[in-house]
Amino acid sequence: MGVAIRLLFLPLMAVAFCGSGVSGRSHFHKKPLRGGGGRHRGGGGKEGSAVSSPAVPPADDSTQPVTPQPPTGIVPSDPATPVQPAEPCVLDVRAYGAVGDGTTDDTQAFREAWKAACASDSDSTVLLVPSDGTFTITTTTFSGPCKPGLVFHVDGVLMPPDGPDCWPPSDNRRQWIVFSNLDGMTLRGAGTIEGNGEDWWNLPCKPHRVRRALAFQDLSRIGPNGSTLRGPCDSPTLLRFFMSRNLVVEGLRVENSPEFHFRFDGCSDVRVDGLYISSPANSPNTDGIHVENTERVAIYNSRISNGDDCISIGTGSYDVDIQNVTCGLGHGISIGSLGVHNSQACVANVTVRNAVIRNSDNGLRIKTWQGGMGSVSGITFDTVVMENVRNCIIVDQYYCLDKRCMNQSTAVHVADVSDTVPCTNITMSEQTPTIPPVTCLQDGLPDALLDNPDLKCR
Ligand SMILES: *[C@@H]1O[C@H](CO)[C@@H](O)[C@H](O)[C@H]1NC(C)=O
Ligand SMILES: *[C@@H]1O[C@H](CO)[C@@H](O)[C@H](O)[C@H]1NC(C)=O
Ligand SMILES: *[C@@H]1O[C@H](CO)[C@@H](O)[C@H](O)[C@H]1NC(C)=O
Ligand SMILES: *[C@@H]1O[C@H](CO)[C@@H](O)[C@H](O)[C@H]1NC(C)=O
Ligand SMILES: *[C@@H]1O[C@H](CO)[C@@H](O)[C@H](O)[C@H]1NC(C)=O
Repeated sequence: MGVAIRLLFLPLMAVAFCGSGVSGRSHFHKKPLRGGGGRHRGGGGKEGSAVSSPAVPPADDSTQPVTPQPPTGIVPSDPATPVQPAEPCVLDVRAYGAVGDGTTDDTQAFREAWKAACASDSDSTVLLVPSDGTFTITTTTFSGPCKPGLVFHVDGVLMPPDGPDCWPPSDNRRQWIVFSNLDGMTLRGAGTIEGNGEDWWNLPCKPHRVRRALAFQDLSRIGPNGSTLRGPCDSPTLLRFFMSRNLVVEGLRVENSPEFHFRFDGCSDVRVDGLYISSPANSPNTDGIHVENTERVAIYNSRISNGDDCISIGTGSYDVDIQNVTCGLGHGISIGSLGVHNSQACVANVTVRNAVIRNSDNGLRIKTWQGGMGSVSGITFDTVVMENVRNCIIVDQYYCLDKRCMNQSTAVHVADVSDTVPCTNITMSEQTPTIPPVTCLQDGLPDALLDNPDLKCR
């Protein structure tokens, strides 16, 4: 039951076989789709394991590799993408009941499509969000394990409900889409992930609202003395990758996130390429890409323009390679803040190469809270162009969000920070306003550092 019957309703569909394991899992959906008259290629699939592939000319039921074509099918976003050697198994979310009219809640259809994609035995299974729809889903975790090679391909628009008022009360407000426990998964496409973040940015608790109210002299909308108002403040990260490895994210446009656009934690071997991330300059906490507890990360060829850190690198990040990235408007590329609440923090081997940072308050920043432990080392900034940036490079070991931070004696050790050529032979005179004062600087490593176990990482 189920899969074979469902195919009867698919419009202009040829059929690919995605291996076994789908049988009995996908739900039959009753809503006939436009067109009707799907076709079912016989043979194989003795357990009814067929699932749909998108439009190919109806006559094509050969064993040739399917080359997806317009008008309704998958169009590879990147013409350079080689045709898959094997026939890709494409599961269009519409085949699982998704409507894509911009208002219908398509969450259930996406869950069913994911379940089928994850159960597929094919070496290249594609969950397709087609280009002619705007799909709305609520907080969803797409979890594995699934067979490596799974592609979540967004050509249309994918978005959450609009703002906190429309968020289902039972849904997590800290994250929207989570990819978890996956190996060898790709998120890509020529489409847009639209965060609909504005109503989250305007929550009474957000500092952005205070700044704006002060600018417009509208004191009725803020707390006493320019403070923020109380109230729920949690806002979702748009796309979170958790406990996964061998991930690729490429080609998408991702915009207006309620909070971080991307967050990778507990991952390894991540490649981000060709993303366009965009949010307004005054959108609070909308970091472009946040990485923590993640190793071997490449972030290449991307443009990020937003209201907070362009890329932020948190504790437990090792071997992060950032190349050909353009950052605008926000707070630049940031390592930290590290060591908050006296925690141990370690970051090593971060390279930023061929980057452009413009119209930003900061360029490259390492910020550690005092009282923390651990170390930041092996940081290279090479060929970074800054235009209209207020603070180009900041190493701040006294990071503090308000003015009431206590003085503490431990700190995260920051070492081996270099440009292409490390700075040498710098002469400072007492007349220069330096922080800390020049008398605090010393040659070499302090004895206390050399064998302090608090500063050891791994
Ligand atoms: C506002 O600031 C004034 C002057 O600094 C202070 O006396 C007053 O207690 C503050 N009010 C609140 C509610 O914090
Ligand atoms: C960075 O850009 C240059 C010039 O477009 C290109 O040759 C190079 O391959 C890019 N680097 C990466 C890691 O993609
Ligand atoms: C940083 O990179 C160097 C050179 O590749 C390597 O020897 C070192 O182990 C790395 N450090 C960490 C903490 O990964
Ligand atoms: C911390 O130490 C600095 C420098 O000694 C001093 O100026 C500042 O007042 C101290 N702050 C607190 C909160 O004790
Ligand atoms: C350091 O800079 C001074 C002043 O520019 C120069 O005279 C001196 O040769 C430099 N020393 C080295 C080791 O480069």
